[in-house]
Amino acid sequence: MTKPYVFITRKLSKETIQPLMEVADVHMWNEEENAVPREVLLKEAEKADALLTMLSEKVDKELLDAAPKLKVIANLAVGFDNIDVKYANQKGIAICNTPDVLTDTTADLTFALLLATARRIVEAAEFVKKGQWKSWSPLLLAGYDVHHKTIGIVGMGKIGEAVAKRARGFEMNILYHNRSRNMEAEEHTGASYTSFDELIETSDFIVCLTPLTAETLGMFTRESFKKMKKSAVFVNVSRGPVVDEEALYHALVDGEIAAAGLDVFVQEPVDEKHPLLTLPNVVALPHIGSSSKETRKNMMELCCKNIELVLCGQQPKTLVNKDWGLSVK
Ligand code: GLV
Ligand code: GLV
Repeated sequence: MTKPYVFITRKLSKETIQPLMEVADVHMWNEEENAVPREVLLKEAEKADALLTMLSEKVDKELLDAAPKLKVIANLAVGFDNIDVKYANQKGIAICNTPDVLTDTTADLTFALLLATARRIVEAAEFVKKGQWKSWSPLLLAGYDVHHKTIGIVGMGKIGEAVAKRARGFEMNILYHNRSRNMEAEEHTGASYTSFDELIETSDFIVCLTPLTAETLGMFTRESFKKMKKSAVFVNVSRGPVVDEEALYHALVDGEIAAAGLDVFVQEPVDEKHPLLTLPNVVALPHIGSSSKETRKNMMELCCKNIELVLCGQQPKTLVNKDWGLSVK
């Protein structure tokens, strides 16, 4: 019997894919830095029983229609806005993501970005390396305090809760906004639920961790930034399109808010000439929220495990379309 065909859209280590190779014929795009060209992905999809995808791949109707044998998609991310989940679900395809394993790592990065933005760490480090440090002076690269301030978390899922736990260590007042109240997070962290408007008006740090959905697309508008404190620091570790980038740019230039820490952009990779990158009060990162060696390894292994389970007729560990399998034997 021929083994099922698996295509992985980026180079993963042999060691990671070894267990999967025992049950499947595994192929992958053998480049670490460059994404698989769309034509190659479409061709591979024709043969594939399983795809292991990156968040940069559009898994849309075209791709799903090109993949008649496809049984499972394992996305190397917790977010899955790159996948047409509804259409894939209609086709009986299991969609898997990588929650839990990346929660603390992403919360660490969120806090690192918040601190770096508030305390001007990137600017300060560049200042030293460029030989600009001529004397100690009282207000040299003075930033904003983080401790004892108010943090407003938009999107109180697992990562939001992990960020709130870190904020407690800094003795911050914690507000959050979410589609629905998260009583468990409130109990664990002392966070208080507020409306979106109250959160953005009263927080010193506004941290966006919400998934990208039809409801959250463009939720940070010109009006939102106008409502924030002039000293507010905005941090986005969710998805770029949750923010109107032009509005954010104007808010930063016009002094409506103080600074922004951005791990994500509408267009990724972000163009080096993007207006936001020209501002000294923007700390920009290349979408590295979950990027620690340990966590990325765990995410890769979880993706491979999920594929293996589905190909062996079992329920995967972390399913996005939760009712999958009830109808599939
Ligand atoms: C990263 O952005 C993820 O969704 O895991
Ligand atoms: C700073 O280093 C201080 O001693 O105040």
